[in-house]
Parts: sequence; structure tokens; C-alpha cells
Amino acid sequence: MADNAVGDIGTGVKSRFSMIGRTALITGSAGMLGRQHAAALLEVGALVVLTDIDVDGLKVARDDLEESFESTWIRTMAMDVTQIESVREVAEELDSEGVRVDALINNAALDPKVGEDGLTDGSRLETFPVQRWDAELAVGLTGAFLCSQVFGTRMAANGGGVILNIASDFSVLAPDQRIYHQVGLDYRDQPVKPVTYSVVKAGLVGLTRYLATYWPDAGVRANALSPGGVQTNQPAEFVKKISHLVPLGRMASPDEYRSAVQFLCSDASSFLTGQNIVVDGGRSVW
Ligand SMILES: NC(=O)c1ccc[n+]([C@@H]2O[C@H](COP(=O)([O-])OP(=O)(O)OC[C@H]3O[C@@H](n4cnc5c(N)ncnc54)[C@H](O)[C@@H]3O)[C@@H](O)[C@H]2O)c1
Repeated sequence: MADNAVGDIGTGVKSRFSMIGRTALITGSAGMLGRQHAAALLEVGALVVLTDIDVDGLKVARDDLEESFESTWIRTMAMDVTQIESVREVAEELDSEGVRVDALINNAALDPKVGEDGLTDGSRLETFPVQRWDAELAVGLTGAFLCSQVFGTRMAANGGGVILNIASDFSVLAPDQRIYHQVGLDYRDQPVKPVTYSVVKAGLVGLTRYLATYWPDAGVRANALSPGGVQTNQPAEFVKKISHLVPLGRMASPDEYRSAVQFLCSDASSFLTGQNIVVDGGRSVW
């Protein structure tokens, strides 16, 4: 085919997104979005290693995924991202089996959720406990560093790979604390999105840029994906308030980040590194 020929669009697109023969390891994959990332990569043919501290949750995630995908492509391993020994143990076990991790998704986090009763835990800055600060940074930020250190080093030695850090629209926005407001509460008792969330997510973007320029010659790319809020069981009033801040007028469904994950983990994004891709229904442009 001539150099400037368009070629067969169907085949070309398919092969650029294909992850056949590649292995992806996802942290925090017993959680809601971790499973979605796994499904996204299984859809394009990757072998996935689901990791989490929640061993029962991992089993449930695996069972769910097995209903749609071949079980031989799904592996579960207990891994605590805050413990370097735990991360090394998983890496060494995979090494011993000749499994090479081509894509790492740093997804684990300790996030407060807006449930049926709104945001209920006390997150106010005035009284925010330093122990909680340490714990949330340990999972969201230190965990991403440790996993990148262990698996990124191997990728660099083995011809390359992709690191994808799951940040949030709060990596580029301050939380609008008004949407968590509960009628009848004194302002000192009003729930807020915790300071750690903003710090972890902005920090992940810094880590992404650092990693992107650290191993470029070794073929390691690093990007961040910043999702907007996913609609689950939040109160209708909260969904209404947040939707009002989003140009597309709604929250995301859980599976709406799959194509971004497929793009960012495959050769479809081969010229993209060090970027923070914000998929937020337009919230951050308003
Ligand atoms: N849900 C959303 O609306 C949303 C929006 C933007 C960004 N995000 C980000 O997406 C990612 C996934 O979010 P989610 O809603 O699926 O969260 P989730 O709470 O459902 O899942 C997080 C997972 O991390 C695991 N985890 C906690 N500590 C760990 C540790 N020490 N080692 C390994 N795993 C650990 C938990 O067991 C859990 O399974 C997070 O980084 C989150 O900040 C979520």
C-alpha cells in the first residue's frame, strides 16, 4: 500500500485498539469503575489481572466479568497498593509465570461516596484528621507511585508499556461544595468533598507528567483519565444539582469511560503521553 493510502478503515481501527496478546493490571478492581476498566480491556482482547485488598470483592468482580468474557483471560490477585512488599510480591509472581504487564491502571482510591443520604462523613477542613489525610494519600497517590515504580521499571526493561492514572474532573476543578449542602444543617456541620480528594487527583496529574518524561526512550507512556461523576444511588436532588453544572446535563453511566480506557491503553493513543484526558460531559469548560 502507498504510504499515503487510507487503507481499510475497519481493519486499521481494530488493530490500533486491539490489546490481543497484552496484559493489563488494574488496581482497586473490586470497585465500581475498576470492573468497568477490566471489561473495557477484555472487550479489546487483553488478559486482565484484577487486584485489590478486597478479596471477596475481587471474586464477585471476576464472577461478573466471567459471565461476559472468557475466564482464562481474567486473573485475580490480592494486592495492597500502599505496601511495597505486596506490590513486589504480585510483580514477582507474574514474573515467575512469564506474564509481563503491558498496561497498568492506577485506579485504587479511598473516596467518600454520595449515597442515598448524601455525603455523610465529616470531611470538614477545620477538623480533618491528619490520619485520614495520610490514609487517603497513601492509597490514591503513594499507591500509584509504588505501582508505577514496580511495574513501570519492568515495562522500561521489557520494551515499553502504558501507565494510566485514574484522576477525576477535580484534578482540574475545585469541588463546588454547594452541591453537597444539606438543608437544616449549620454551615459548620455541612458535608464537603474532602481536601484529600483534590490533592490526590491533582497530584496524579503531576505524577503522570513526571512518568511520561522519565521513560519515553524505553517506550513507556503515561496518561491520566479524569472522569466526571458517575450516577449510582445518589439522592435525586444531588443528581439534579450536579447535572446543572454539566453541559451535557447529566452524570455519566458507569460504562461511559470504557472507550477512553481502550484508547489510552492501546496503540490507538501511541503518540499521546503526559496528558490528562478529562471526560466530564463538559463540566470543566463551564
Ligand atoms: N465513581 C465516580 O464517580 C468517580 C469519578 C471520578 C473519578 N473516580 C475515580 O475512579 C477510581 C475508581 O472509583 P470507584 O468509584 O470505582 O471507587 P470504589 O470505591 O468503588 O473502588 C475503589 C477500590 O479501591 C480499593 N482499595 C482501597 N484501598 C486499597 C489499597 N490499599 N490497595 C488496593 N486497593 C484498594 C477498594 O477496595 C475498592 O475496591 C477512583 O480513583 C476514583 O477516585 C470515580
